[in-house]
Amino acid sequence: MDEKSPRVGEPLLVAENLTKHFPVRGGFPIRRTVGAVQAVDGIDLTVRAGESFGLVGESGCGKSTTGRLLTRLLEPSAGRILYRGEDITHAGRRQLAPVRSEIQMIFQDPYASLNPRQTVGRIVSGPMEIHGIEPPGGREARVRELLETVGLNPEHYNRFPHEFSGGQRQRIGVARALALGPKVVVADEPVSALDVSIQAQVVNLLQQLQRELGIAFLFIAHDLAVVRHVSHRVAVMYLGRIVETGSREDIYRRPRHPYTHALLSAVPEAADADGTTRRERIRLTGDVPSPVAPPSGCRFRTRCWKARDRCATEAPALARADGSGEGHLSACHFPEPPTTAARPEA
Ligand SMILES: Nc1ncnc2c1ncn2[C@@H]1O[C@H](COP(=O)(O)OP(=O)(O)OP(=O)(O)O)[C@@H](O)[C@H]1O
Ligand code: SF4
Ligand SMILES: [Mg+2]
Repeated sequence: MDEKSPRVGEPLLVAENLTKHFPVRGGFPIRRTVGAVQAVDGIDLTVRAGESFGLVGESGCGKSTTGRLLTRLLEPSAGRILYRGEDITHAGRRQLAPVRSEIQMIFQDPYASLNPRQTVGRIVSGPMEIHGIEPPGGREARVRELLETVGLNPEHYNRFPHEFSGGQRQRIGVARALALGPKVVVADEPVSALDVSIQAQVVNLLQQLQRELGIAFLFIAHDLAVVRHVSHRVAVMYLGRIVETGSREDIYRRPRHPYTHALLSAVPEAADADGTTRRERIRLTGDVPSPVAPPSGCRFRTRCWKARDRCATEAPALARADGSGEGHLSACHFPEPPTTAARPEA
């Protein structure tokens, strides 16, 4: 692996046609595979060095599975994962060892992801121990430095997770993720288990780390509000597929996919000067279909108010719609108009 620091904007972590189908077993007395949960079904995405990339979608659409595939915690069913140009899709332990220290994950639940019987010092130095890394000045000094970086008191080195609040525990998880100096961090709903009042603090911390340390983030969230101010680019997922992707401005100011419109209409925003909000509220009806038997054609069609015959027979490709800028892709046969000025500043 190339030891040099990646240049800002260089593709760091790339997914090509990434797919994960979990087998569904049934039958008696012999259990056999009777179907598959199409958790992630052929997605392409690129996280670039130093950028924050938001991955958004409703519960069950495959966000965590995507994060776990990219960090190689799960084995993909198909497709490829490239890290700095190197194919790591099926890399074994030895090939992965150097990569593992550069790609880290922060989990949703700070309560469950920290060992209650270990001190903060042990938890944060764990990755250094696993990788046999002895930083100059020693591990303890490094841990104290990391605690300070994430806004915790370095003197609390010997405390246990239960002695901290939820927000502080998530900071411990962040410190652990930073221990090996990662180039990219996959943060899987890092604030959704926290009190609303402290969510912003943790989001701000991650944003500050991304800026100051130049770490790339894949920031997973279930609504567009959370990633609004921290993401340079955003991808919207629905039932295992990416339905729209683009810059923050593309997604928040000129979205083309009906599903993105629906998600955005649920995001509260400041009212206009005259007291009215400009955005009409779209209420999505019906449940998300089962990923075991997703709808034919466009997967969103059972909830889409614009669906026509073609939507049932032909899966729309993720492509640039007429009127959309470069890098702004949507998967819809009948995209919404490119209303450039209609939306308030993202
Ligand atoms: N190990 C597994 N075995 C079988 N099915 C799984 C497994 N992990 C996830 N799934 C299924 O895959 C689909 C996608 O799950 P995933 O956890 O990736 O969604 P998500 O977008 O992260 O949802 P949430 O917002 O609730 O965290 C779901 O239908 C889920 O039930
Ligand atoms: S392809 Fe058809 S069903 Fe799918 S989002 Fe577009 S209009 Fe709706
Ligand atoms: Mg999840």
